[in-house]
Amino acid sequence: MTQFTVFGNPIAHSLSPQIHQLFAAQFGGQLNYDRRLATVATFPSAVADFFRCGGQGANVTIPFKVAAMDLVTHLTPRAQRAGSVNTLVPLGHGQLVGDTTDGLGLCRDLQRLLAAELATTKVLIIGAGGAARSVIEPLQALGAEVVIANRSRARVEPLIEVFDELKLLDFASLQAPPEALMGGSDWLLINATSASLLGGKLAIHPSWFAGAKLVYDMMYGTQLTPFLKQATTAGAQQVSDGLGMLVEQAAVSYALWHPGQMPDTASVLTALR
Ligand code: ATR
Repeated sequence: MTQFTVFGNPIAHSLSPQIHQLFAAQFGGQLNYDRRLATVATFPSAVADFFRCGGQGANVTIPFKVAAMDLVTHLTPRAQRAGSVNTLVPLGHGQLVGDTTDGLGLCRDLQRLLAAELATTKVLIIGAGGAARSVIEPLQALGAEVVIANRSRARVEPLIEVFDELKLLDFASLQAPPEALMGGSDWLLINATSASLLGGKLAIHPSWFAGAKLVYDMMYGTQLTPFLKQATTAGAQQVSDGLGMLVEQAAVSYALWHPGQMPDTASVLTALR
């Protein structure tokens, strides 16, 4: 049977094995997909061992998405610009491709959630770390105007250098109502910070949530995330956690490993919920 894995730390909670097994079943097959706990020190050798033993594909999750860039022989242009790798595809003879499917995963999930075109919408992303960086290019490719607001200015500078059309919003201005700043257009509000992990609230005026067409948290959990709780309290019209993004990015990874096989994601998302 084919062998796949996901590397991360922590990793016990990962839904990837379940998702990929459901995908394989759609094509009448089965696959072995396990979880591998690594440390910063053991990650490179764990990846090398996996592929030396015949591994056919791996996902990489927090905190190794940047480190994985150094382990591959070929980096896709989108992974290069995203500054992260979440999918490893072996080419044989020790060659390894590093790609990222996170951004496409988010776009596919937003397209599922929104009837309207992303091209006519401003997408306000809060955060400028790895999670934010990996989704900018695919959103821009769909025509969305991407605006970044981040607590520290230093994290934003490298993004401005890579993504020409990127707009910036002063983080402090999130504490006031958005009207003039958003110029009367529709907007989506996306949390790409790690604040939810610590259960922290972000200093955002309630009207940013209430006025958004969709409030989206790239995090997910069994309960509403702190960001989505904030959004709901503020009267948000529509909220979503990042479970759909997880399933969508997995589908794009699956298709990289199994060319010509794009899984149906809606049924898998329903099964997970
Ligand atoms: P990831 O890979 O998940 O994106 P990261 O690269 O460590 O993680 O980035 C974390 C992001 O969350 C950063 O944009 C960080 O803001 P700073 O650059 O100012 O540190 C943001 N973040 C984390 N906690 C936050 C908080 N309490 N309020 C605002 N932003 C926060």
